[in-house]
Amino acid sequence: MIVRTPPMGWNTWNTFGEDINEALIIETCDAMVEKGLRDAGYEYVVIDDCWSLKERDAEGRLQADPEKFPHGIKYLADYIHSKGMKLGMYSCCGPLTCAGYPGSLDHEFIDAKFFADNGVDYLKYDWCYHPTNLAGSTLYNRMKMALNATGRDIVFSVCNWGEENLLDWIRSVGGDLYRSTGDINDSFRSIREIFDSQVDNFALSGPNCFNDMDMLVCGMNNKGNVSAGGCTFEEYKTHFCLWCMAQSPLMIGCDVRNVDDDILALLKNRELIAINQDPECRPVIPAPMHNHPCFAKHLTNNEYAFSLTNYDDEESEIFMILADIGLPLTGEWGFKLRDCITGEEFEKVFTDRVGATVKAHSTRVFRGTLVRLR
Ligand code: GLA
Repeated sequence: MIVRTPPMGWNTWNTFGEDINEALIIETCDAMVEKGLRDAGYEYVVIDDCWSLKERDAEGRLQADPEKFPHGIKYLADYIHSKGMKLGMYSCCGPLTCAGYPGSLDHEFIDAKFFADNGVDYLKYDWCYHPTNLAGSTLYNRMKMALNATGRDIVFSVCNWGEENLLDWIRSVGGDLYRSTGDINDSFRSIREIFDSQVDNFALSGPNCFNDMDMLVCGMNNKGNVSAGGCTFEEYKTHFCLWCMAQSPLMIGCDVRNVDDDILALLKNRELIAINQDPECRPVIPAPMHNHPCFAKHLTNNEYAFSLTNYDDEESEIFMILADIGLPLTGEWGFKLRDCITGEEFEKVFTDRVGATVKAHSTRVFRGTLVRLR
Protein backbone atom coordinates (compact mmCIF):
# COMPACT_ATOMS: atom_id res chain seq x y z
CA MET A 1 0.00 0.00 0.00
CA ILE A 2 1.59 3.26 -1.10
CA VAL A 3 -0.09 6.44 0.10
CA ARG A 4 1.62 9.07 -2.05
CA THR A 5 -0.43 12.14 -1.15
CA PRO A 6 -2.53 13.06 1.91
CA PRO A 7 -5.80 11.06 2.06
CA MET A 8 -8.97 13.10 1.47
CA GLY A 9 -12.51 12.25 2.48
CA TRP A 10 -15.27 12.76 5.03
CA ASN A 11 -15.66 11.40 8.57
CA THR A 12 -18.82 11.03 10.69
CA TRP A 13 -17.38 12.12 14.04
CA ASN A 14 -17.25 15.93 14.03
CA THR A 15 -20.90 16.45 13.23
CA PHE A 16 -22.67 13.20 14.06
CA GLY A 17 -20.79 11.52 16.94
CA GLU A 18 -22.75 8.40 17.88
CA ASP A 19 -25.80 9.44 15.83
CA ILE A 20 -24.84 7.51 12.69
CA ASN A 21 -26.67 5.09 10.40
CA GLU A 22 -26.85 3.60 6.94
CA ALA A 23 -29.08 6.34 5.48
CA LEU A 24 -26.64 9.03 6.63
CA ILE A 25 -23.71 7.26 4.97
CA ILE A 26 -25.58 6.71 1.71
CA GLU A 27 -26.94 10.26 1.60
CA THR A 28 -23.50 11.68 2.37
CA CYS A 29 -21.86 9.56 -0.31
CA ASP A 30 -24.50 10.73 -2.83
CA ALA A 31 -24.06 14.36 -1.77
CA MET A 32 -20.28 14.09 -2.20
CA VAL A 33 -20.78 12.88 -5.75
CA GLU A 34 -23.54 15.40 -6.63
CA LYS A 35 -21.73 18.38 -5.16
CA GLY A 36 -18.46 17.56 -6.91
CA LEU A 37 -16.50 16.67 -3.78
CA ARG A 38 -15.60 13.20 -5.05
CA ASP A 39 -14.32 14.69 -8.29
CA ALA A 40 -12.34 17.28 -6.31
CA GLY A 41 -10.44 14.37 -4.70
CA TYR A 42 -12.43 13.48 -1.56
CA GLU A 43 -12.31 9.72 -1.79
CA TYR A 44 -12.91 8.13 1.63
CA VAL A 45 -16.21 7.95 3.51
CA VAL A 46 -15.16 7.12 7.06
CA ILE A 47 -17.49 5.70 9.73
CA ASP A 48 -15.94 6.66 13.06
CA ASP A 49 -16.74 5.33 16.56
CA CYS A 50 -20.15 3.91 17.65
CA TRP A 51 -20.95 1.70 14.65
CA SER A 52 -20.92 -1.72 16.37
CA LEU A 53 -22.88 -3.62 18.96
CA LYS A 54 -21.43 -3.59 22.47
CA GLU A 55 -20.87 -7.38 22.30
CA ARG A 56 -18.88 -9.50 19.87
CA ASP A 57 -20.58 -12.54 18.27
CA ALA A 58 -20.05 -16.17 19.41
CA GLU A 59 -16.89 -16.41 17.24
CA GLY A 60 -15.47 -13.23 18.75
CA ARG A 61 -16.16 -11.05 15.71
CA LEU A 62 -17.29 -7.44 15.78
CA GLN A 63 -20.87 -6.96 14.65
CA ALA A 64 -22.41 -3.85 13.11
CA ASP A 65 -25.38 -2.53 15.09
CA PRO A 66 -28.35 -3.85 13.04
CA GLU A 67 -30.54 -0.90 14.01
CA LYS A 68 -28.01 1.59 12.67
CA PHE A 69 -26.77 -0.54 9.77
CA PRO A 70 -29.60 -2.96 8.84
CA HIS A 71 -27.84 -4.27 5.71
CA GLY A 72 -24.42 -4.59 7.36
CA ILE A 73 -21.08 -3.06 6.39
CA LYS A 74 -20.39 -4.97 3.16
CA TYR A 75 -23.57 -3.52 1.67
CA LEU A 76 -22.30 0.01 2.38
CA ALA A 77 -18.84 -0.82 1.03
CA ASP A 78 -20.39 -2.11 -2.19
CA TYR A 79 -22.53 1.03 -2.49
CA ILE A 80 -19.59 3.36 -1.86
CA HIS A 81 -17.38 1.43 -4.28
CA SER A 82 -20.10 1.61 -6.95
CA LYS A 83 -19.78 5.41 -6.70
CA GLY A 84 -16.03 5.26 -7.21
CA MET A 85 -15.27 6.00 -3.56
CA LYS A 86 -13.76 4.06 -0.64
CA LEU A 87 -14.95 3.05 2.82
CA GLY A 88 -13.09 3.84 6.04
CA MET A 89 -13.88 2.45 9.48
CA TYR A 90 -12.72 2.81 13.05
CA SER A 91 -11.43 0.73 15.94
CA CYS A 92 -9.15 1.22 18.92
CA CYS A 93 -6.02 -0.47 20.31
CA GLY A 94 -7.55 -0.80 23.80
CA PRO A 95 -10.26 -3.25 24.96
CA LEU A 96 -12.84 -0.49 24.38
CA THR A 97 -13.14 2.39 21.93
CA CYS A 98 -13.26 5.96 23.25
CA ALA A 99 -17.07 5.82 23.26
CA GLY A 100 -17.14 2.42 25.03
CA TYR A 101 -17.70 -0.01 22.14
CA PRO A 102 -15.49 -3.12 21.75
CA GLY A 103 -11.86 -2.26 20.89
CA SER A 104 -9.41 -4.52 19.09
CA LEU A 105 -6.95 -5.38 21.89
CA ASP A 106 -6.16 -9.12 21.59
CA HIS A 107 -8.59 -9.30 18.64
CA GLU A 108 -6.39 -7.51 16.12
CA PHE A 109 -6.18 -10.32 13.58
CA ILE A 110 -9.86 -11.28 13.74
CA ASP A 111 -10.88 -7.62 13.47
CA ALA A 112 -8.55 -6.91 10.56
CA LYS A 113 -10.14 -9.89 8.80
CA PHE A 114 -13.61 -8.49 9.57
CA PHE A 115 -12.66 -5.18 7.96
CA ALA A 116 -11.08 -6.85 4.92
CA ASP A 117 -14.02 -9.27 4.47
CA ASN A 118 -16.40 -6.31 4.52
CA GLY A 119 -14.54 -4.39 1.83
CA VAL A 120 -13.06 -1.72 4.09
CA ASP A 121 -10.24 0.36 2.54
CA TYR A 122 -9.08 2.52 5.46
CA LEU A 123 -8.85 1.94 9.23
CA LYS A 124 -8.66 4.72 11.81
CA TYR A 125 -7.13 3.14 14.91
CA ASP A 126 -7.56 5.02 18.17
CA TRP A 127 -5.71 5.10 21.50
CA CYS A 128 -8.29 5.08 24.33
CA TYR A 129 -7.84 2.48 27.09
CA HIS A 130 -4.51 1.33 25.59
CA PRO A 131 -2.88 -1.14 27.99
CA THR A 132 -0.03 0.46 29.90
CA ASN A 133 2.16 -2.66 29.83
CA LEU A 134 2.53 -2.45 26.03
CA ALA A 135 4.18 0.35 24.06
CA GLY A 136 2.12 2.24 21.49
CA SER A 137 4.65 1.19 18.85
CA THR A 138 3.94 -2.48 19.70
CA LEU A 139 0.17 -2.05 19.60
CA TYR A 140 0.18 -0.19 16.29
CA ASN A 141 2.74 -2.54 14.75
CA ARG A 142 0.53 -5.48 15.72
CA MET A 143 -2.50 -4.03 13.95
CA LYS A 144 -0.40 -3.16 10.91
CA MET A 145 0.73 -6.81 10.71
CA ALA A 146 -2.90 -7.93 11.10
CA LEU A 147 -3.96 -5.63 8.24
CA ASN A 148 -1.10 -6.89 6.07
CA ALA A 149 -2.10 -10.49 6.85
CA THR A 150 -5.53 -9.93 5.26
CA GLY A 151 -3.93 -9.35 1.85
CA ARG A 152 -6.21 -6.33 1.29
CA ASP A 153 -4.87 -2.81 0.81
CA ILE A 154 -6.10 -0.91 3.86
CA VAL A 155 -4.80 2.57 4.66
CA PHE A 156 -3.63 2.64 8.29
CA SER A 157 -4.73 5.84 10.01
CA VAL A 158 -3.04 5.96 13.40
CA CYS A 159 -4.78 8.09 16.03
CA ASN A 160 -2.70 8.22 19.20
CA TRP A 161 -2.82 12.03 19.53
CA GLY A 162 0.99 12.34 19.22
CA GLU A 163 1.64 10.52 22.49
CA GLU A 164 4.67 8.32 23.45
CA ASN A 165 7.05 10.22 21.15
CA LEU A 166 5.09 9.03 18.15
CA LEU A 167 7.42 10.75 15.68
CA ASP A 168 10.20 8.34 16.70
CA TRP A 169 8.33 5.21 15.62
CA ILE A 170 5.34 6.04 13.43
CA ARG A 171 7.19 5.58 10.15
CA SER A 172 8.63 2.21 11.22
CA VAL A 173 5.32 0.67 12.31
CA GLY A 174 3.61 1.45 9.02
CA GLY A 175 1.25 4.32 9.87
CA ASP A 176 0.17 5.97 6.61
CA LEU A 177 -1.11 9.00 8.50
CA TYR A 178 -0.90 9.89 12.17
CA ARG A 179 -3.00 12.14 14.36
CA SER A 180 -0.46 14.37 16.06
CA THR A 181 -2.68 16.18 18.58
CA GLY A 182 -5.75 15.89 20.76
CA ASP A 183 -9.19 16.40 19.25
CA ILE A 184 -10.11 19.49 17.28
CA ASN A 185 -13.26 21.45 18.09
CA ASP A 186 -15.23 24.01 16.12
CA SER A 187 -13.39 27.15 17.25
CA PHE A 188 -10.56 29.29 15.88
CA ARG A 189 -8.67 28.78 19.12
CA SER A 190 -8.57 25.01 18.57
CA ILE A 191 -7.50 25.37 14.92
CA ARG A 192 -4.72 27.75 15.92
CA GLU A 193 -3.49 25.65 18.87
CA ILE A 194 -3.30 22.51 16.76
CA PHE A 195 -1.52 24.22 13.88
CA ASP A 196 0.98 26.10 16.06
CA SER A 197 1.82 22.90 17.97
CA GLN A 198 2.88 21.14 14.74
CA VAL A 199 4.99 23.79 12.98
CA ASP A 200 8.22 22.20 14.24
CA ASN A 201 7.09 18.70 13.21
CA PHE A 202 6.29 19.12 9.54
CA ALA A 203 9.66 17.87 8.28
CA LEU A 204 8.67 14.26 8.99
CA SER A 205 5.33 14.46 7.22
CA GLY A 206 5.49 12.98 3.73
CA PRO A 207 4.48 10.06 1.52
CA ASN A 208 3.23 7.00 3.46
CA CYS A 209 3.29 8.94 6.72
CA PHE A 210 1.33 12.20 6.79
CA ASN A 211 0.84 14.41 9.85
CA ASP A 212 -2.94 14.40 10.39
CA MET A 213 -3.92 17.57 12.25
CA ASP A 214 -7.45 16.17 12.66
CA MET A 215 -10.67 16.44 10.70
CA LEU A 216 -11.81 19.75 9.22
CA VAL A 217 -14.40 21.80 11.08
CA CYS A 218 -15.02 24.09 8.04
CA GLY A 219 -18.75 24.67 7.62
CA MET A 220 -19.85 23.20 10.93
CA ASN A 221 -21.16 26.61 12.04
CA ASN A 222 -21.32 25.57 15.69
CA LYS A 223 -23.58 22.59 14.99
CA GLY A 224 -22.74 19.00 15.86
CA ASN A 225 -20.64 16.82 18.09
CA VAL A 226 -17.55 19.03 18.46
CA SER A 227 -19.25 22.44 18.50
CA ALA A 228 -17.40 25.07 20.52
CA GLY A 229 -18.72 28.42 19.36
CA GLY A 230 -18.10 28.04 15.63
CA CYS A 231 -15.86 30.11 13.35
CA THR A 232 -16.25 32.93 10.83
CA PHE A 233 -15.86 32.15 7.15
CA GLU A 234 -12.41 33.79 7.19
CA GLU A 235 -11.38 31.50 10.08
CA TYR A 236 -12.57 28.41 8.21
CA LYS A 237 -10.57 29.69 5.25
CA THR A 238 -7.43 29.90 7.39
CA HIS A 239 -8.08 26.37 8.65
CA PHE A 240 -8.35 24.96 5.13
CA CYS A 241 -5.41 26.95 3.73
CA LEU A 242 -3.09 25.92 6.58
CA TRP A 243 -4.10 22.25 6.36
CA CYS A 244 -3.43 22.42 2.59
CA MET A 245 -0.03 24.12 2.98
CA ALA A 246 1.04 21.64 5.68
CA GLN A 247 -0.17 18.66 3.59
CA SER A 248 -2.43 17.38 6.35
CA PRO A 249 -5.01 14.79 5.30
CA LEU A 250 -8.26 16.60 4.40
CA MET A 251 -11.20 14.89 6.09
CA ILE A 252 -14.36 16.99 5.89
CA GLY A 253 -16.30 17.04 9.16
CA CYS A 254 -19.44 19.08 8.37
CA ASP A 255 -22.79 17.77 7.13
CA VAL A 256 -22.09 17.81 3.40
CA ARG A 257 -25.77 17.25 2.60
CA ASN A 258 -26.42 20.79 3.87
CA VAL A 259 -23.10 22.54 3.29
CA ASP A 260 -23.11 26.32 2.51
CA ASP A 261 -22.10 27.33 -1.02
CA ASP A 262 -19.11 29.40 0.11
CA ILE A 263 -17.74 26.53 2.23
CA LEU A 264 -18.31 24.07 -0.61
CA ALA A 265 -16.36 26.33 -2.97
CA LEU A 266 -13.55 26.57 -0.40
CA LEU A 267 -13.41 22.79 0.11
CA LYS A 268 -13.33 22.30 -3.68
CA ASN A 269 -10.76 25.03 -4.42
CA ARG A 270 -8.54 23.38 -7.04
CA GLU A 271 -5.50 25.55 -6.37
CA LEU A 272 -5.48 24.82 -2.64
CA ILE A 273 -6.09 21.11 -3.17
CA ALA A 274 -3.27 21.01 -5.73
CA ILE A 275 -0.92 22.42 -3.09
CA ASN A 276 -2.11 19.81 -0.56
CA GLN A 277 -1.73 17.01 -3.12
CA ASP A 278 1.51 18.25 -4.69
CA PRO A 279 3.45 15.13 -5.77
CA GLU A 280 6.77 16.32 -4.27
CA CYS A 281 5.18 16.62 -0.80
CA ARG A 282 7.78 19.08 0.47
CA PRO A 283 7.21 20.47 3.96
CA VAL A 284 6.67 24.22 4.29
CA ILE A 285 9.51 26.67 5.00
CA PRO A 286 8.48 28.93 7.90
CA ALA A 287 9.10 32.67 7.52
CA PRO A 288 6.97 34.06 10.35
CA MET A 289 6.20 37.77 10.64
CA HIS A 290 6.16 38.32 14.41
CA ASN A 291 3.49 35.81 15.52
CA HIS A 292 1.77 35.53 12.17
CA PRO A 293 2.43 32.24 10.41
CA CYS A 294 3.86 32.79 6.92
CA PHE A 295 5.22 29.98 4.79
CA ALA A 296 6.86 29.23 1.49
CA LYS A 297 6.70 25.82 -0.12
CA HIS A 298 8.44 24.17 -3.06
CA LEU A 299 6.03 22.56 -5.52
CA THR A 300 6.64 20.32 -8.52
CA ASN A 301 7.78 21.89 -11.82
CA ASN A 302 9.82 24.50 -9.96
CA GLU A 303 6.74 26.32 -8.73
CA TYR A 304 6.23 27.84 -5.29
CA ALA A 305 3.36 28.50 -2.90
CA PHE A 306 3.26 31.22 -0.24
CA SER A 307 0.78 31.67 2.58
CA LEU A 308 0.20 34.70 4.79
CA THR A 309 -2.02 34.30 7.86
CA ASN A 310 -3.28 37.16 9.99
CA TYR A 311 -3.74 36.10 13.63
CA ASP A 312 -4.74 39.68 14.60
CA ASP A 313 -8.32 40.61 15.38
CA GLU A 314 -8.27 43.32 12.71
CA GLU A 315 -7.26 43.55 9.06
CA SER A 316 -3.47 43.94 8.70
CA GLU A 317 -0.69 44.08 6.18
CA ILE A 318 1.07 40.70 6.44
CA PHE A 319 4.32 39.94 4.66
CA MET A 320 7.29 37.65 4.52
CA ILE A 321 10.80 38.87 3.76
CA LEU A 322 12.12 36.87 0.85
CA ALA A 323 15.68 37.06 2.16
CA ASP A 324 14.44 34.95 5.08
CA ILE A 325 13.87 32.06 2.70
CA GLY A 326 17.13 32.61 0.86
CA LEU A 327 16.32 34.88 -2.11
CA PRO A 328 19.22 37.27 -2.88
CA LEU A 329 17.91 40.84 -2.61
CA THR A 330 19.67 42.10 -5.72
CA GLY A 331 16.48 42.77 -7.66
CA GLU A 332 17.63 40.22 -10.21
CA TRP A 333 15.09 37.57 -9.21
CA GLY A 334 11.49 37.71 -8.04
CA PHE A 335 8.23 35.77 -7.86
CA LYS A 336 5.41 36.13 -10.38
CA LEU A 337 2.30 35.12 -8.47
CA ARG A 338 -1.44 34.60 -8.60
CA ASP A 339 -3.94 34.53 -5.74
CA CYS A 340 -5.15 30.94 -5.28
CA ILE A 341 -8.54 32.01 -3.94
CA THR A 342 -9.51 35.04 -6.07
CA GLY A 343 -7.59 33.91 -9.15
CA GLU A 344 -6.07 37.41 -9.52
CA GLU A 345 -2.74 37.45 -11.41
CA PHE A 346 -0.38 40.10 -10.08
CA GLU A 347 1.37 42.35 -12.60
CA LYS A 348 4.16 43.15 -10.19
CA VAL A 349 7.00 40.78 -9.51
CA PHE A 350 7.71 40.28 -5.79
CA THR A 351 11.44 40.87 -5.34
CA ASP A 352 11.97 41.67 -1.66
CA ARG A 353 8.82 40.55 0.14
CA VAL A 354 5.53 38.76 -0.48
CA GLY A 355 2.91 40.84 1.28
CA ALA A 356 -0.79 41.57 1.16
CA THR A 357 -3.69 42.95 3.13
CA VAL A 358 -5.22 40.06 5.06
CA LYS A 359 -8.58 40.25 6.86
CA ALA A 360 -8.80 39.43 10.58
CA HIS A 361 -8.00 35.73 11.21
CA SER A 362 -7.86 35.12 7.47
CA THR A 363 -5.23 33.67 5.13
CA ARG A 364 -4.11 34.39 1.58
CA VAL A 365 -2.30 31.85 -0.54
CA PHE A 366 -0.31 32.60 -3.68
CA ARG A 367 1.28 30.37 -6.28
CA GLY A 368 3.75 31.06 -9.03
CA THR A 369 7.25 30.89 -10.44
CA LEU A 370 10.63 32.44 -9.86
CA VAL A 371 11.48 34.79 -12.72
CA ARG A 372 14.62 36.65 -13.79
CA LEU A 373 14.21 40.42 -14.13
CA ARG A 374 17.57 41.40 -15.53
C1 GLA B 1 -11.04 10.04 19.93
C2 GLA B 1 -10.50 10.48 18.57
C3 GLA B 1 -11.60 11.20 17.80
C4 GLA B 1 -12.82 10.29 17.63
C5 GLA B 1 -13.29 9.81 19.00
C6 GLA B 1 -14.38 8.74 18.89
O1 GLA B 1 -11.34 11.12 20.75
O2 GLA B 1 -9.37 11.29 18.73
O3 GLA B 1 -11.13 11.62 16.53
O4 GLA B 1 -12.47 9.20 16.82
O5 GLA B 1 -12.23 9.24 19.76
O6 GLA B 1 -14.82 8.31 20.14
